[in-house]
Amino acid sequence: MGESSANRRIIVSERPRFSVPNTKVFGLDTAPKPKPGDGEILIRTTWLGIEPYLYGRLKATSSQTTPVSLGDVMVGPTVGRVEISNRPDYAKGDMVQGFWGWQDYHVSDGSQVSKIDPDIPRPSYVLGALGMSGFGAYVAVNEYLKVKRGETLIFGAALGGLGQIVGQLGKMRGARTIGGVSGPQKVRYGEDVLGFDVCLDRKTKDFKARCEQEFSRNGVDCYLMSATGGVLQLAMPHFNLHARIAACGVMSFYSGVELPPGPDQTMVVFNEINLKRISVHGLVTLDWAGTPLHSQFKKEMKGWIQGGQIKVVEHIVDGLENAPDTLQGVFEGRNFGKAVVRLAD
Ligand SMILES: NC(=O)c1ccc[n+]([C@@H]2O[C@H](COP(=O)([O-])OP(=O)(O)OC[C@H]3O[C@@H](n4cnc5c(N)ncnc54)[C@H](OP(=O)(O)O)[C@@H]3O)[C@@H](O)[C@H]2O)c1
Repeated sequence: MGESSANRRIIVSERPRFSVPNTKVFGLDTAPKPKPGDGEILIRTTWLGIEPYLYGRLKATSSQTTPVSLGDVMVGPTVGRVEISNRPDYAKGDMVQGFWGWQDYHVSDGSQVSKIDPDIPRPSYVLGALGMSGFGAYVAVNEYLKVKRGETLIFGAALGGLGQIVGQLGKMRGARTIGGVSGPQKVRYGEDVLGFDVCLDRKTKDFKARCEQEFSRNGVDCYLMSATGGVLQLAMPHFNLHARIAACGVMSFYSGVELPPGPDQTMVVFNEINLKRISVHGLVTLDWAGTPLHSQFKKEMKGWIQGGQIKVVEHIVDGLENAPDTLQGVFEGRNFGKAVVRLAD
């Protein structure tokens, strides 16, 4: 870690052909350290945000935007420190964020980057709780699910970037929170440290029975879809009248190479939506970026983090070369918190 005269870069060398992202689709190369020209800044990358949607950017047909070309640097949200500034609006040492991808250095003309608030506890928080994961949770809980006191909120990947904030915001609004995780350590942390009412371990034999038991207690009012469709099927018969679903993603589907087996449940789901008058909202956080709600979120979330009402759980991995394995890890549930890679201090 630290200063270097070369620019190490993680390159996309193959299209994935595996059900879970595989480190073999990446290569590591070394280019000369770039030099900033007039009106430019040189940024030393310090943090990478590892996001499930990045897997989609590797595939030939990308889900939301153009895929990364073979031979190009892997894209992704980034944080860095200005090392040289030839611009009046940036000074050496300023912390900035952008999307320049998995490499040690980046030269910018000042567009596509923005300064990071120096008062936040750690700059990497803009990649998680104060970034798109936290904002996605905020929009889901407040705008789409409109979680109310006494209601039951179900969410998967409960210690992930999105889930950890969804559950804590749900608690702040007085809901009974039921999160899905893998492994007993995550169950304990979710319940004891983050304060979720129940955490269910999706890897245990009695997972389905536990879901049935918990979902039938008071029914289901709010459902955040982010992990797997199987739990939605278990929850469907227990939805209360006027329940709400926020469809944020499906981890188990992204990495699949084919549709899941089994009978088509579409009609069952739509029948329940009809009978229970359930509202279903598709959520892409980017749609809300730059809105007044985004500014309100940043202010409120910073205050909650500083005041201790929201706890931030980061899964920190050191070294650019470990970014591919960290991406693979989020599809295997190896991250204990929001996954970030540290390149330098
Ligand atoms: N719509 C939006 O704007 C938006 C914004 C942020 C996130 N999201 C979506 O929310 C989901 C979670 O994102 P994140 O950034 O919070 O993830 P993350 O921090 O990377 O965590 C991913 C977690 O998902 C769980 N998981 C992995 N594979 C799974 C599977 N096959 N079935 C069930 N759970 C699985 C694992 O947790 P356990 O092993 O502990 O279960 C893993 O740790 C993704 O679908 C993502 O696309 C959407």
